[in-house]
Amino acid sequence: MDKIIAANWKMNNTFADIKPFVKYIKKNQKNKNNLVVCVPSVMLSEFAKQAKGVCETGAQNCYFEAKGAYTGEISASMVKSTGANYTLVGHSERRQLFGETNEMLNKKLVAALKEGLKVIFCIGEVLEEKSKYKSVLKKQIVEGFAGITDFSNIVVAYEPVWAIGTGKVATTADIKKVHAFVKQTFKENFGVDMLVLYGGSVKPSNSKEILALDEVDGVLIGGASLKAEDYIAIAQSR
Ligand code: 13P
Repeated sequence: MDKIIAANWKMNNTFADIKPFVKYIKKNQKNKNNLVVCVPSVMLSEFAKQAKGVCETGAQNCYFEAKGAYTGEISASMVKSTGANYTLVGHSERRQLFGETNEMLNKKLVAALKEGLKVIFCIGEVLEEKSKYKSVLKKQIVEGFAGITDFSNIVVAYEPVWAIGTGKVATTADIKKVHAFVKQTFKENFGVDMLVLYGGSVKPSNSKEILALDEVDGVLIGGASLKAEDYIAIAQSR
């Protein structure tokens, strides 16, 4: 099965980077992995236009209200209107730096799905919570997905916060164990087989062994997705 190779540019790159990035992917991506690139919202339209037929375009965030006086926010329908078809919801940086709660993320998930966007919903524990990851992840899942009945447009990304941007990758044994737990939690609570991506310091030198794991349905890449060469090296590493 194709695995999802998702990029998260975070607050990096500018308009000038779009053209060479897309051109490189077009020229060099040979296998069939499913590529999704989540770019800053101001670049969505241009990226989606240039990337048509090359890779999918995603937002990194959108608000749960449909429209109105919410200065600085963007709605799911605005994302959709740019030509993007994915959005991240619940990235740990949104949770930690911008105070997004499980309740808000649940509303964002509902709003994004209503617009027909595909959602990469992020979960993960901080370092101090590592020993009790089960209760932390279960709470994020049960509260984040409350009331959801159609899971067909959702994948989950497990990103241990202590592995993001730190160079510290979870061991393959840890990844297998936690992904199995996440999948089991979705099965028990919602009766669905959830696809689970891994994120946190994924790079060309470690992606092969991570993507080889049966429990891993893809990866979500931050720093190493900023250069098309590294991103495509990861996509081709399985
Ligand atoms: P890094 O790959 O830079 O660790 O970031 C992971 C991440 O947060 C992707 O969403």
